[in-house]
Amino acid sequence: MNKLLIQGGATLNGQVRISGAKNAVLPILAATLLCEGTAIIENVPHLHDVTTTVELLGAMGVHVVIDEKLSIEVDSSTIESCIAPYHLVRTMRSSILVLGPLLARFGEAEVSLPGGCAIGSRPVNLHIKGLQDMGAEVEVKNGYIIAKAKRLKGARLVMDIVTVTGTENLMMAAALADGVTTIENAAREPEVVDLANFLIAMGAKIEGAGTDTITINGVEKLQGIRYRVLPDRIETGTYLVAAAITGGKIMVKDTAPRLLDAVIDKLREAGADVEVGDDWISLDMHGKRPKAVNIRTAPYPAFPTDMQAQFVALDTIAEGTATVVETVFENRFMHVQELQRMGADIEVEGNTAIVRGVEKLTGAPIMATDLRASASLIMAGLVAEGETEVHRIYHIDRGYEIIEEKLALLGANIRRIPV
Ligand code: UD1
Repeated sequence: MNKLLIQGGATLNGQVRISGAKNAVLPILAATLLCEGTAIIENVPHLHDVTTTVELLGAMGVHVVIDEKLSIEVDSSTIESCIAPYHLVRTMRSSILVLGPLLARFGEAEVSLPGGCAIGSRPVNLHIKGLQDMGAEVEVKNGYIIAKAKRLKGARLVMDIVTVTGTENLMMAAALADGVTTIENAAREPEVVDLANFLIAMGAKIEGAGTDTITINGVEKLQGIRYRVLPDRIETGTYLVAAAITGGKIMVKDTAPRLLDAVIDKLREAGADVEVGDDWISLDMHGKRPKAVNIRTAPYPAFPTDMQAQFVALDTIAEGTATVVETVFENRFMHVQELQRMGADIEVEGNTAIVRGVEKLTGAPIMATDLRASASLIMAGLVAEGETEVHRIYHIDRGYEIIEEKLALLGANIRRIPV
């Protein structure tokens, strides 16, 4: 196992290139199970979650070729089993995304129930209910979701909660169903739109992705294609916060600024000068200390829960007091205890954190608990006085490509060392 060592105090300055979006590539890789022929996915980030998905497809007998130039070629015609085993689903909850495609294309699926995780209970009841409404027989036995259907039937699906992977699973299932499916109260996240665009490119008939009602007219089959994954808006936001917290100046390239409106507004409120182009964002903090910004997370296009922890880190050293309300997940303040160990003044009551900005944080050994919490601890380490050691960084490798290399290129004093 490795840890990150950060010597705080460097001001970030320079340019950084953004990788393909984790939350788009994972459903897109699952959707390759739907197509006859070979799908080639480009701009694939080198992440642990991608490796796990490739392992999952491989365990089912799917033929996967990984190219050095960030592309993955998938041919699902060699599939031998429709089982997603516990040991893989346990490490990556989004493995549940193979449920809809397996059932729609092969008429059966056995997917381990993901169980809880650090940020809350995260049930998948809405994925299951949607498939049942489309005519699937589903039972939960020995910790597995066992689903069967000769051919799924189009249905009207009304989601009680906005769920990203739930919307994606049902949209993939509906792509090959018999008849028309509507998903109401659908997630509007850009990654749902990217998946819809991938399915459409394979021949699916989908309208309304990006709105709260998605209509899918099922087709008999989908064909292989080549597709480029959209840039990662959360990685983009994370580097912008890293620059802002250190008073720095950066240019983020190969990104999609239009997907970051809520985040950019908050960075401006914190005192940053932000400019955007077609595929770049520049941020200049002019060496100033950030101002505290209130945050309330909610589904897209509101402020993303996946950026909450990074903004809590920013608020810890900001001028003033911020109120941060987490409305998406029930237990997503795991980073707070670690930040407190670095001298942050934060009080948590239910789903609200009150962050009183302090003049400085001090380096400490700290433990990453989940993916975005780890990013927040790194942000804090960049600005803390002295050395910060971040342990359990396998969480960060799930979702950030070579983060220490990218930060080091921007001038951070950070290195990965074996424990
Ligand atoms: C996805 C993202 C994750 C992001 C989250 C919210 C991927 C791979 N992951 O996770 O990075 O933080 O969206 O933007 O895209 N819920 C239920 N029943 C269900 C499904 C969800 O009650 O069947 C609840 C969850 O517990 C949670 C809320 O709905 O409170 C939203 O979760 P959801 O959008 O499903 O998150 P994920 O798709 O798992």
